[in-house]
Amino acid sequence: MRDFRSIAECDVRLEPLTILAGFNAAGKSNFLDAIRFVRDALVLSPSRAVAKRGSLGSLLRKAESTGGEASSFLIGLDLSFGPGQGEATYEIQIGRNPESKRSVLVVAESLQLTVQEVHAQYSVGQVGGAREREVRGDGLPGARLDPDELLLPIVGRLSPYDTLLRALASMRFYDLDTDVLRELDDTRVSQTQLGERGEHLGQILGLLSDRHSEVKESVDGWLRWLIPSLLGVDRRMQGDYATIQARFWSGDPVVPFWEAVNSGDVHAGDPSVQVFQREQLSEGTVRGAGVLAALNQPDALTGGISLVAIEEPELAIHPAKVSGLLAAMEEASQWTQVIATTQSSDLLSAEEIEPSSLRIVEMVDGVSRIGELSDKMLLALRKNPSYLADYHRHGQLRPADDAHGENRE
Ligand SMILES: Nc1ncnc2c1ncn2[C@@H]1O[C@H](COP(=O)(O)OP(=O)(O)OP(=O)(O)O)[C@@H](O)[C@H]1O
Ligand SMILES: [Mg+2]
Repeated sequence: MRDFRSIAECDVRLEPLTILAGFNAAGKSNFLDAIRFVRDALVLSPSRAVAKRGSLGSLLRKAESTGGEASSFLIGLDLSFGPGQGEATYEIQIGRNPESKRSVLVVAESLQLTVQEVHAQYSVGQVGGAREREVRGDGLPGARLDPDELLLPIVGRLSPYDTLLRALASMRFYDLDTDVLRELDDTRVSQTQLGERGEHLGQILGLLSDRHSEVKESVDGWLRWLIPSLLGVDRRMQGDYATIQARFWSGDPVVPFWEAVNSGDVHAGDPSVQVFQREQLSEGTVRGAGVLAALNQPDALTGGISLVAIEEPELAIHPAKVSGLLAAMEEASQWTQVIATTQSSDLLSAEEIEPSSLRIVEMVDGVSRIGELSDKMLLALRKNPSYLADYHRHGQLRPADDAHGENRE
């Protein structure tokens, strides 16, 4: 990436599960938003992706030192479609249209792609004015593109471009909102994906019990781990509209609760099971269900969602239980790529945490630096893994010195 919001320059490798940590206003969300911008530019259009974020001026990096603004930003993504299945590099550069300052211009777009040994590549660039754009590539008709138009959505109906377009267009970025998770869903068409603020949670949980009951069991299992006595969160229909309800165990505490649950002896009709409605559920119950639904939604399980990014999954979850979310993300990274931002030392103190999956984001002189921990720190943590949370708690985690991010003025 170059010159996107607070990011002057960065080159970050992502893992099946990557955790972004760093101080407030360091640039974690900016980093995710850059990847999301590529998704929006492809699914909507570059202009609409910009409009969704206010204006081009808010995206172009402002240099603190000079007060100036970059003339364009660049976002490039390297992807692997899985072992032996091919790979791709896709890059877009977006700037102001010199012919009308307020409109958006695709300065350049380039693609290199190999899918099942079929290669394709193209580059779209300026020749002269904004209107004269040149497409150079294999077997592509002399496509005429508008100044703010990308080529991939056009050729993406054809093989092998469809594989790349599908992967990029199916990335999901979650910033869950408790009120939205709780709302009565008035979309009657059956939704197969959790909305990015938590829309359709009831429908998704219902779909899981209808079609993937073993996964629904596992989601309820994680929720039980988070919240003692919670048996599960389910779809509830109110007329034509879906929403959520939760089952809690209110029986004799002397009865070995876990045994009863594990043997499947607990049913909705059981007098010891109390059902609570959406407005009655606690913040942590609703958010926990949202995070688990994002990770386990049907389209993610079947490979239809290439990436699930989640902003601060640990919000509203008790510190002793946060490690369960990390384990659930770890599990989900088997079927979709996962990125989470976090402010939680408790998440980093989980036994499952792998320090090499951390990316630290730091703001220096108004510029974000993003990188892995230094080798020295990784070595120290190998000896004493428990120090990670303490380093984080005391604000001592820094990206390695070779992380890009230098101010280029
Ligand atoms: N166009 C821009 N040019 C330069 N810096 C920018 C630009 N837009 C945003 N910023 C910087 O990015 C910061 C916000 O970063 P971001 O939202 O990514 O933080 P974060 O790491 O997600 O923090 P939090 O943990 O609080 O959510 C702003 O405070 C500002 O300093
Ligand atoms: Mg943020």
